[in-house]
Amino acid sequence: MRKHSIAVLPGDGIGPEVTGEAQKVVEAAGGRHGFEVEWVPFPFGAGYWKKHGETLPDSALEEMAQCKALLLGAVGDPSVKPGVLERGILLRLRFHFDQYINLRPARSYPGIELPVRLPEGKRIDSVVVRENTEDFYMGVGMTSASGEVEEAFEVRRELYTLSGRVLARTEPDEPLALQMGALTRRGVERVTRYAFELARKRGENTVTLSSKANAVPFLYGFLDEETKRVAAAEYPDMTLKVQNVDAMCYTLVCRPSDAGVILCPNLFGDIVSDLQAALIGGLGLAAGGNIGDGLSMFEPVHGTAPDIAGTGKANPLGAILSAALMLEHIGEAEGAGSIQDAIETYLERAPIVDRPLELGGGAVCSKVGDSVVRNIGV
Ligand code: NAD
Ligand code: IPM
Ligand code: MN
Repeated sequence: MRKHSIAVLPGDGIGPEVTGEAQKVVEAAGGRHGFEVEWVPFPFGAGYWKKHGETLPDSALEEMAQCKALLLGAVGDPSVKPGVLERGILLRLRFHFDQYINLRPARSYPGIELPVRLPEGKRIDSVVVRENTEDFYMGVGMTSASGEVEEAFEVRRELYTLSGRVLARTEPDEPLALQMGALTRRGVERVTRYAFELARKRGENTVTLSSKANAVPFLYGFLDEETKRVAAAEYPDMTLKVQNVDAMCYTLVCRPSDAGVILCPNLFGDIVSDLQAALIGGLGLAAGGNIGDGLSMFEPVHGTAPDIAGTGKANPLGAILSAALMLEHIGEAEGAGSIQDAIETYLERAPIVDRPLELGGGAVCSKVGDSVVRNIGV
Protein backbone atom coordinates (compact mmCIF):
# COMPACT_ATOMS: atom_id res chain seq x y z
CA MET A 1 0.00 0.00 0.00
CA ARG A 2 1.46 3.39 -1.02
CA LYS A 3 1.17 6.06 1.68
CA HIS A 4 0.94 9.80 1.15
CA SER A 5 1.06 12.47 3.78
CA ILE A 6 -1.06 15.42 2.65
CA ALA A 7 -1.48 18.74 4.44
CA VAL A 8 -5.04 20.03 4.49
CA LEU A 9 -6.08 23.60 5.24
CA PRO A 10 -9.89 23.84 4.93
CA GLY A 11 -10.05 27.56 5.85
CA ASP A 12 -13.25 29.61 6.09
CA GLY A 13 -16.84 29.69 4.83
CA ILE A 14 -17.55 26.86 2.40
CA GLY A 15 -13.85 25.87 2.49
CA PRO A 16 -14.32 23.10 5.08
CA GLU A 17 -17.52 21.86 3.38
CA VAL A 18 -15.98 21.37 -0.05
CA THR A 19 -12.62 20.15 1.28
CA GLY A 20 -14.35 17.45 3.34
CA GLU A 21 -15.96 16.09 0.16
CA ALA A 22 -12.63 16.19 -1.67
CA GLN A 23 -10.99 14.19 1.13
CA LYS A 24 -13.80 11.63 1.02
CA VAL A 25 -13.37 11.18 -2.73
CA VAL A 26 -9.55 10.92 -2.49
CA GLU A 27 -9.94 8.17 0.10
CA ALA A 28 -12.33 6.29 -2.19
CA ALA A 29 -9.85 6.60 -5.07
CA GLY A 30 -7.11 5.34 -2.74
CA GLY A 31 -9.23 2.32 -1.83
CA ARG A 32 -9.60 1.47 -5.47
CA HIS A 33 -6.04 2.13 -6.59
CA GLY A 34 -3.99 0.93 -3.62
CA PHE A 35 -2.89 4.06 -1.80
CA GLU A 36 -3.62 5.56 1.56
CA VAL A 37 -3.59 9.20 2.62
CA GLU A 38 -2.55 10.51 5.99
CA TRP A 39 -4.16 13.95 6.36
CA VAL A 40 -2.20 16.54 8.32
CA PRO A 41 -4.76 19.22 9.24
CA PHE A 42 -4.05 22.94 9.71
CA PRO A 43 -6.62 25.17 11.46
CA PHE A 44 -5.76 28.55 9.92
CA GLY A 45 -8.37 31.07 8.88
CA ALA A 46 -10.65 33.68 10.44
CA GLY A 47 -11.32 31.78 13.70
CA TYR A 48 -7.64 31.10 14.36
CA TRP A 49 -6.71 34.70 13.55
CA LYS A 50 -9.29 36.12 15.94
CA LYS A 51 -8.24 33.75 18.72
CA HIS A 52 -4.46 33.88 18.34
CA GLY A 53 -3.77 37.10 16.41
CA GLU A 54 -1.70 35.10 13.95
CA THR A 55 -2.47 34.13 10.35
CA LEU A 56 0.10 31.45 9.57
CA PRO A 57 3.00 30.62 11.91
CA ASP A 58 6.43 29.77 10.47
CA SER A 59 6.35 26.42 12.26
CA ALA A 60 3.33 25.41 10.14
CA LEU A 61 5.28 26.14 6.94
CA GLU A 62 7.98 23.76 8.12
CA GLU A 63 5.44 21.03 8.93
CA MET A 64 3.74 21.48 5.58
CA ALA A 65 7.08 21.20 3.80
CA GLN A 66 7.30 17.60 5.08
CA CYS A 67 4.08 16.70 3.25
CA LYS A 68 3.74 15.67 -0.40
CA ALA A 69 1.13 18.31 -1.20
CA LEU A 70 -1.30 20.73 0.37
CA LEU A 71 -5.06 20.66 -0.18
CA LEU A 72 -6.68 24.01 0.57
CA GLY A 73 -10.34 25.10 0.73
CA ALA A 74 -10.44 28.90 0.75
CA VAL A 75 -9.74 31.73 3.19
CA GLY A 76 -11.41 35.08 3.82
CA ASP A 77 -14.26 36.23 6.00
CA PRO A 78 -16.50 39.31 5.93
CA SER A 79 -15.62 40.05 9.57
CA VAL A 80 -11.90 40.36 8.80
CA LYS A 81 -10.38 43.22 6.78
CA PRO A 82 -9.88 42.14 3.13
CA GLY A 83 -6.34 40.95 2.55
CA VAL A 84 -5.45 39.96 6.09
CA LEU A 85 -6.27 36.29 5.61
CA GLU A 86 -5.94 36.21 1.82
CA ARG A 87 -2.46 37.72 1.79
CA GLY A 88 -1.50 36.35 5.21
CA ILE A 89 -2.34 32.75 4.39
CA LEU A 90 -3.08 32.04 0.73
CA LEU A 91 -0.60 34.35 -0.96
CA ARG A 92 2.02 33.72 1.72
CA LEU A 93 1.82 30.01 0.92
CA ARG A 94 2.10 30.63 -2.82
CA PHE A 95 5.14 32.88 -2.36
CA HIS A 96 6.84 30.93 0.43
CA PHE A 97 6.76 27.67 -1.54
CA ASP A 98 7.46 29.54 -4.79
CA GLN A 99 4.38 28.05 -6.46
CA TYR A 100 4.99 30.01 -9.61
CA ILE A 101 2.31 28.35 -11.72
CA ASN A 102 -1.39 28.68 -11.05
CA LEU A 103 -2.93 26.04 -13.27
CA ARG A 104 -6.66 26.47 -13.83
CA PRO A 105 -8.22 24.06 -16.29
CA ALA A 106 -11.85 24.31 -17.36
CA ARG A 107 -13.87 21.60 -19.06
CA SER A 108 -17.55 21.69 -19.90
CA TYR A 109 -19.64 18.62 -19.19
CA PRO A 110 -22.46 17.28 -21.29
CA GLY A 111 -25.86 17.89 -19.78
CA ILE A 112 -24.95 21.09 -17.98
CA GLU A 113 -26.62 24.24 -19.07
CA LEU A 114 -24.06 26.85 -20.11
CA PRO A 115 -24.46 30.62 -20.38
CA VAL A 116 -23.20 30.35 -23.97
CA ARG A 117 -24.08 28.11 -26.86
CA LEU A 118 -21.32 25.84 -28.22
CA PRO A 119 -21.09 24.62 -31.82
CA GLU A 120 -22.58 21.13 -32.23
CA GLY A 121 -20.35 18.43 -30.75
CA LYS A 122 -17.84 20.89 -29.22
CA ARG A 123 -16.75 21.16 -25.61
CA ILE A 124 -14.88 23.78 -23.66
CA ASP A 125 -11.43 22.48 -22.75
CA SER A 126 -9.26 25.48 -21.98
CA VAL A 127 -6.67 26.13 -19.31
CA VAL A 128 -5.38 29.28 -17.72
CA VAL A 129 -1.67 29.18 -16.90
CA ARG A 130 -1.38 32.04 -14.48
CA GLU A 131 1.93 33.42 -13.26
CA ASN A 132 1.56 33.23 -9.50
CA THR A 133 4.30 35.26 -7.78
CA GLU A 134 4.68 38.63 -9.54
CA ASP A 135 2.73 41.39 -11.32
CA PHE A 136 0.45 43.46 -9.07
CA TYR A 137 0.67 40.77 -6.39
CA MET A 138 4.10 41.92 -5.21
CA GLY A 139 2.48 43.58 -2.23
CA VAL A 140 4.46 46.80 -2.62
CA GLY A 141 2.27 49.82 -2.16
CA MET A 142 1.30 52.63 0.10
CA THR A 143 -1.29 55.31 0.68
CA SER A 144 -0.66 58.88 1.73
CA ALA A 145 -3.15 61.27 3.24
CA SER A 146 -0.81 64.22 2.62
CA GLY A 147 0.02 63.31 -0.97
CA GLU A 148 3.65 62.77 -0.09
CA VAL A 149 5.29 59.35 0.06
CA GLU A 150 8.75 58.31 1.09
CA GLU A 151 8.97 54.67 1.98
CA ALA A 152 11.40 51.78 1.69
CA PHE A 153 10.23 48.35 0.56
CA GLU A 154 11.65 44.88 0.38
CA VAL A 155 9.98 41.84 -1.18
CA ARG A 156 11.47 38.39 -0.96
CA ARG A 157 10.86 35.81 -3.60
CA GLU A 158 12.63 32.54 -4.26
CA LEU A 159 14.27 33.96 -7.40
CA TYR A 160 15.31 37.34 -5.98
CA THR A 161 14.80 40.03 -3.37
CA LEU A 162 13.35 43.24 -4.75
CA SER A 163 14.11 46.26 -2.61
CA GLY A 164 14.09 49.98 -3.01
CA ARG A 165 12.50 53.23 -2.00
CA VAL A 166 9.43 55.05 -3.26
CA LEU A 167 9.66 58.81 -3.31
CA ALA A 168 6.64 60.63 -4.73
CA ARG A 169 4.35 63.56 -4.16
CA THR A 170 1.31 65.16 -5.69
CA GLU A 171 1.32 68.89 -6.43
CA PRO A 172 -1.02 70.36 -5.23
CA ASP A 173 -1.28 67.90 -2.33
CA GLU A 174 -3.77 65.17 -3.08
CA PRO A 175 -4.29 62.03 -0.98
CA LEU A 176 -3.11 59.09 -3.05
CA ALA A 177 -2.48 55.39 -3.26
CA LEU A 178 0.33 53.69 -5.14
CA GLN A 179 0.83 50.01 -5.87
CA MET A 180 3.66 48.53 -7.84
CA GLY A 181 3.55 45.73 -10.36
CA ALA A 182 6.75 43.93 -11.23
CA LEU A 183 7.80 41.26 -13.70
CA THR A 184 11.25 39.75 -14.06
CA ARG A 185 12.92 37.93 -16.93
CA ARG A 186 13.22 34.61 -15.11
CA GLY A 187 9.72 34.98 -13.70
CA VAL A 188 8.29 35.35 -17.22
CA GLU A 189 10.53 32.68 -18.72
CA ARG A 190 9.48 29.89 -16.38
CA VAL A 191 5.75 30.40 -16.77
CA THR A 192 6.11 30.75 -20.55
CA ARG A 193 7.96 27.45 -20.76
CA TYR A 194 5.32 25.78 -18.61
CA ALA A 195 2.56 27.04 -20.91
CA PHE A 196 4.31 25.80 -24.08
CA GLU A 197 5.13 22.41 -22.56
CA LEU A 198 1.51 22.06 -21.50
CA ALA A 199 0.23 22.98 -24.96
CA ARG A 200 2.56 20.37 -26.46
CA LYS A 201 1.31 17.76 -23.99
CA ARG A 202 -2.26 18.59 -25.00
CA GLY A 203 -1.33 18.06 -28.66
CA GLU A 204 -1.76 21.75 -29.48
CA ASN A 205 0.69 24.15 -31.07
CA THR A 206 -0.54 27.49 -29.81
CA VAL A 207 -0.28 29.47 -26.57
CA THR A 208 -2.32 32.66 -26.27
CA LEU A 209 -0.82 35.35 -24.07
CA SER A 210 -3.25 37.64 -22.34
CA SER A 211 -1.58 41.04 -22.21
CA LYS A 212 -2.25 44.77 -22.16
CA ALA A 213 0.86 46.47 -23.47
CA ASN A 214 -1.21 49.18 -25.15
CA ALA A 215 -2.19 50.74 -21.82
CA VAL A 216 0.42 49.41 -19.38
CA PRO A 217 3.50 49.43 -21.62
CA PHE A 218 6.34 48.95 -19.14
CA LEU A 219 4.96 45.94 -17.37
CA TYR A 220 3.12 44.23 -20.20
CA GLY A 221 5.41 45.46 -22.97
CA PHE A 222 8.18 43.62 -21.12
CA LEU A 223 5.88 40.61 -20.77
CA ASP A 224 5.24 40.54 -24.55
CA GLU A 225 8.90 40.90 -25.43
CA GLU A 226 10.18 38.27 -23.01
CA THR A 227 7.44 35.80 -23.88
CA LYS A 228 8.07 36.25 -27.61
CA ARG A 229 11.80 35.75 -27.09
CA VAL A 230 11.30 32.43 -25.25
CA ALA A 231 8.74 31.27 -27.80
CA ALA A 232 10.99 32.03 -30.79
CA ALA A 233 14.14 30.57 -29.25
CA GLU A 234 12.73 27.46 -27.59
CA TYR A 235 9.46 26.66 -29.35
CA PRO A 236 10.07 27.69 -32.98
CA ASP A 237 7.63 25.01 -34.17
CA MET A 238 4.81 26.49 -32.09
CA THR A 239 2.82 29.74 -32.18
CA LEU A 240 2.51 32.48 -29.60
CA LYS A 241 -0.58 34.62 -30.05
CA VAL A 242 -0.62 37.86 -28.12
CA GLN A 243 -4.05 39.22 -27.34
CA ASN A 244 -5.09 42.14 -25.17
CA VAL A 245 -6.96 40.89 -22.15
CA ASP A 246 -10.10 42.89 -22.95
CA ALA A 247 -10.34 41.34 -26.41
CA MET A 248 -9.52 37.96 -24.92
CA CYS A 249 -12.52 38.17 -22.56
CA TYR A 250 -14.70 39.03 -25.53
CA THR A 251 -13.44 36.12 -27.66
CA LEU A 252 -13.68 33.71 -24.76
CA VAL A 253 -17.37 34.42 -24.38
CA CYS A 254 -18.04 34.41 -28.15
CA ARG A 255 -16.03 31.27 -28.97
CA PRO A 256 -15.18 29.46 -25.72
CA SER A 257 -14.56 26.09 -27.35
CA ASP A 258 -11.74 27.59 -29.47
CA ALA A 259 -9.67 28.47 -26.41
CA GLY A 260 -6.70 26.32 -25.41
CA VAL A 261 -3.73 27.31 -23.28
CA ILE A 262 -4.14 30.88 -22.02
CA LEU A 263 -1.00 32.37 -20.50
CA CYS A 264 -1.72 35.20 -18.06
CA PRO A 265 0.11 37.51 -15.72
CA ASN A 266 -1.12 37.17 -12.15
CA LEU A 267 -3.99 39.68 -12.00
CA PHE A 268 -5.46 38.96 -15.44
CA GLY A 269 -5.20 35.24 -14.67
CA ASP A 270 -7.28 35.73 -11.56
CA ILE A 271 -10.01 37.46 -13.54
CA VAL A 272 -9.92 35.31 -16.67
CA SER A 273 -10.15 32.13 -14.59
CA ASP A 274 -13.43 33.23 -12.96
CA LEU A 275 -14.75 34.09 -16.43
CA GLN A 276 -13.69 30.67 -17.66
CA ALA A 277 -15.52 29.12 -14.68
CA ALA A 278 -18.71 30.94 -15.60
CA LEU A 279 -18.44 29.62 -19.14
CA ILE A 280 -18.37 25.98 -17.99
CA GLY A 281 -21.47 26.53 -15.88
CA GLY A 282 -20.32 27.51 -12.41
CA LEU A 283 -17.52 28.72 -10.18
CA GLY A 284 -18.08 25.64 -8.02
CA LEU A 285 -16.86 23.46 -10.90
CA ALA A 286 -13.50 25.16 -11.39
CA ALA A 287 -10.32 23.51 -10.15
CA GLY A 288 -6.81 24.75 -9.63
CA GLY A 289 -3.29 23.89 -8.65
CA ASN A 290 -0.51 26.16 -7.37
CA ILE A 291 2.54 24.40 -8.67
CA GLY A 292 6.20 24.90 -7.91
CA ASP A 293 9.38 22.90 -7.56
CA GLY A 294 8.76 22.43 -3.81
CA LEU A 295 5.44 21.89 -2.06
CA SER A 296 2.48 22.40 -4.40
CA MET A 297 -0.99 23.42 -3.26
CA PHE A 298 -4.33 22.47 -4.74
CA GLU A 299 -7.49 24.52 -4.29
CA PRO A 300 -10.68 25.34 -6.15
CA VAL A 301 -10.81 28.65 -8.01
CA HIS A 302 -13.66 29.98 -5.88
CA GLY A 303 -13.50 31.72 -2.51
CA THR A 304 -15.25 31.16 0.81
CA ALA A 305 -18.71 32.15 -0.53
CA PRO A 306 -19.98 33.55 2.79
CA ASP A 307 -23.40 34.08 1.17
CA ILE A 308 -24.03 30.32 1.01
CA ALA A 309 -21.74 28.97 3.77
CA GLY A 310 -23.48 26.45 6.00
CA THR A 311 -26.49 26.06 3.69
CA GLY A 312 -25.30 22.98 1.78
CA LYS A 313 -25.50 24.94 -1.47
CA ALA A 314 -21.74 24.78 -2.11
CA ASN A 315 -20.75 22.72 -5.12
CA PRO A 316 -17.71 20.63 -4.10
CA LEU A 317 -16.80 19.47 -7.63
CA GLY A 318 -14.12 22.17 -8.08
CA ALA A 319 -12.48 21.08 -4.83
CA ILE A 320 -12.78 17.43 -5.84
CA LEU A 321 -11.25 18.13 -9.26
CA SER A 322 -8.47 20.07 -7.53
CA ALA A 323 -7.78 16.99 -5.42
CA ALA A 324 -7.59 14.99 -8.67
CA LEU A 325 -4.96 17.44 -9.97
CA MET A 326 -3.14 16.87 -6.68
CA LEU A 327 -3.18 13.09 -7.10
CA GLU A 328 -1.79 13.44 -10.60
CA HIS A 329 0.95 15.67 -9.21
CA ILE A 330 2.00 13.16 -6.54
CA GLY A 331 2.16 10.29 -9.03
CA GLU A 332 -1.31 8.79 -8.55
CA ALA A 333 -2.47 9.42 -12.11
CA GLU A 334 -4.85 6.45 -12.13
CA GLY A 335 -6.60 7.71 -9.01
CA ALA A 336 -6.85 11.15 -10.61
CA GLY A 337 -8.28 9.64 -13.80
CA SER A 338 -10.88 7.66 -11.83
CA ILE A 339 -12.08 10.82 -10.11
CA GLN A 340 -12.35 12.71 -13.39
CA ASP A 341 -14.21 9.80 -15.00
CA ALA A 342 -16.51 9.47 -11.98
CA ILE A 343 -17.48 13.15 -12.23
CA GLU A 344 -18.05 12.85 -15.97
CA THR A 345 -20.30 9.78 -15.53
CA TYR A 346 -22.14 11.35 -12.61
CA LEU A 347 -22.88 14.58 -14.45
CA GLU A 348 -23.88 12.73 -17.59
CA ARG A 349 -26.24 10.24 -15.95
CA ALA A 350 -27.50 11.62 -12.65
CA PRO A 351 -31.16 12.67 -12.53
CA ILE A 352 -31.79 16.35 -11.78
CA VAL A 353 -32.37 15.74 -8.04
CA ASP A 354 -28.88 14.27 -7.65
CA ARG A 355 -27.05 17.11 -9.41
CA PRO A 356 -25.38 19.95 -7.52
CA LEU A 357 -27.71 22.77 -6.51
CA GLU A 358 -25.39 25.20 -8.27
CA LEU A 359 -26.04 23.42 -11.57
CA GLY A 360 -29.80 23.51 -11.20
CA GLY A 361 -30.11 20.20 -9.36
CA GLY A 362 -31.35 19.19 -5.93
CA ALA A 363 -28.25 17.75 -4.23
CA VAL A 364 -26.50 19.43 -1.29
CA CYS A 365 -22.72 19.45 -0.98
CA SER A 366 -22.31 16.12 0.85
CA LYS A 367 -24.71 14.33 -1.53
CA VAL A 368 -22.61 15.44 -4.49
CA GLY A 369 -19.53 13.97 -2.79
CA ASP A 370 -21.44 10.72 -2.14
CA SER A 371 -22.43 10.48 -5.82
CA VAL A 372 -18.86 10.91 -6.98
CA VAL A 373 -17.69 8.26 -4.50
CA ARG A 374 -20.36 5.85 -5.78
CA ASN A 375 -19.16 6.34 -9.34
CA ILE A 376 -15.57 5.60 -8.39
CA GLY A 377 -16.52 2.08 -7.35
CA VAL A 378 -14.10 -0.20 -5.55
P1 NAD B 1 -16.46 33.69 -4.05
O1 NAD B 1 -15.77 32.85 -5.05
O2 NAD B 1 -16.35 33.23 -2.65
O3 NAD B 1 -18.01 33.79 -4.43
C1 NAD B 1 -18.50 34.37 -5.64
C2 NAD B 1 -19.91 33.85 -5.94
O4 NAD B 1 -19.84 32.49 -6.35
C3 NAD B 1 -20.83 33.85 -4.72
O5 NAD B 1 -22.12 34.16 -5.15
C4 NAD B 1 -20.78 32.43 -4.22
O6 NAD B 1 -21.93 32.01 -3.53
C5 NAD B 1 -20.59 31.64 -5.51
N1 NAD B 1 -19.80 30.42 -5.27
C6 NAD B 1 -18.47 30.35 -5.01
N2 NAD B 1 -18.09 29.09 -4.84
C7 NAD B 1 -19.17 28.32 -5.00
C8 NAD B 1 -19.42 26.93 -4.93
N3 NAD B 1 -18.43 26.05 -4.67
N4 NAD B 1 -20.67 26.46 -5.14
C9 NAD B 1 -21.67 27.32 -5.41
N5 NAD B 1 -21.51 28.66 -5.49
C10 NAD B 1 -20.28 29.15 -5.28
O7 NAD B 1 -15.89 35.16 -4.23
P2 NAD B 1 -16.06 36.46 -3.30
O8 NAD B 1 -17.48 36.58 -2.87
O9 NAD B 1 -15.41 37.55 -4.03
O10 NAD B 1 -15.15 36.18 -2.03
C11 NAD B 1 -15.61 35.73 -0.76
C12 NAD B 1 -14.39 35.61 0.16
O11 NAD B 1 -13.50 34.59 -0.30
C13 NAD B 1 -13.55 36.88 0.24
O12 NAD B 1 -13.09 37.00 1.57
C14 NAD B 1 -12.41 36.60 -0.71
O13 NAD B 1 -11.26 37.36 -0.43
C15 NAD B 1 -12.19 35.14 -0.48
N6 NAD B 1 -11.54 34.42 -1.59
C16 NAD B 1 -10.67 33.44 -1.24
C17 NAD B 1 -10.10 32.65 -2.21
C18 NAD B 1 -9.15 31.57 -1.82
O14 NAD B 1 -8.88 31.38 -0.65
N7 NAD B 1 -8.62 30.82 -2.76
C19 NAD B 1 -10.45 32.85 -3.56
C20 NAD B 1 -11.36 33.86 -3.89
C21 NAD B 1 -11.92 34.63 -2.89
C1 IPM C 1 -7.84 33.35 -6.22
C2 IPM C 1 -8.22 34.45 -5.26
C3 IPM C 1 -6.99 35.11 -4.66
C4 IPM C 1 -6.19 35.72 -5.80
C5 IPM C 1 -7.32 36.16 -3.59
C6 IPM C 1 -8.16 35.59 -2.49
C7 IPM C 1 -6.08 36.79 -3.04
O1 IPM C 1 -9.07 35.36 -5.88
O2 IPM C 1 -7.13 32.43 -5.79
O3 IPM C 1 -8.28 33.38 -7.36
O4 IPM C 1 -6.44 36.86 -6.20
O5 IPM C 1 -5.29 35.05 -6.30
MN1 MN D 1 -9.77 34.67 -7.84
